[in-house]
Amino acid sequence: MNTWDLLGGDAVMEPLLADFYRRIATSPIAPLFPPGVGEPGSETFRKQFAFQSDFWGGPVRYAPWRGHPRMRMRHLPFAIDQAAADTWMACMTASVEVSAMPVEVRADYLLQIRNIAQAMINRSDTPGGSAP
Ligand code: HEM
Repeated sequence: MNTWDLLGGDAVMEPLLADFYRRIATSPIAPLFPPGVGEPGSETFRKQFAFQSDFWGGPVRYAPWRGHPRMRMRHLPFAIDQAAADTWMACMTASVEVSAMPVEVRADYLLQIRNIAQAMINRSDTPGGSAP
């Protein structure tokens, strides 16, 4: 069994990630994302679902569509500081909590996702808001 299946496969991850982007859409980091990010089947949702399917050993969906992940490079256009990463992780943690993901795999899942989120930080925190 691959990790994707241990996480619950499509049946768990699709609603989990849909819930995640609904939370993102009403979060302080929503302006970083394209409008409609929280709508059903949004492109951002589809990219994330495809990426995680590849990443966790499920059906290969991202690479044939989007090519090499190069995640850090793809995130460089967006100002991601520690606060943004924390907000992103708070949405993800909340979505995992209300999901059907098996309880025994949740901590490992969130730890690995957190490591990726930390690696996406590409700006220093800017107390009082972003510099112009
Ligand atoms: C640290 C906080 C993060 C922020 C603020 C952030 C923000 C964004 C934004 C604004 C986009 C562009 C949306 C779009 O192209 O539709 C994006 C794309 C993406 N993000 Fe993140 N992201 C973060 C962390 C992560 C993490 C941890 C992962 C993976 C576990 C991830 C995976 C992706 C993927 C797969 C895409 C689509 C890339 C593409 O094919 O164009 N992101 N992210």
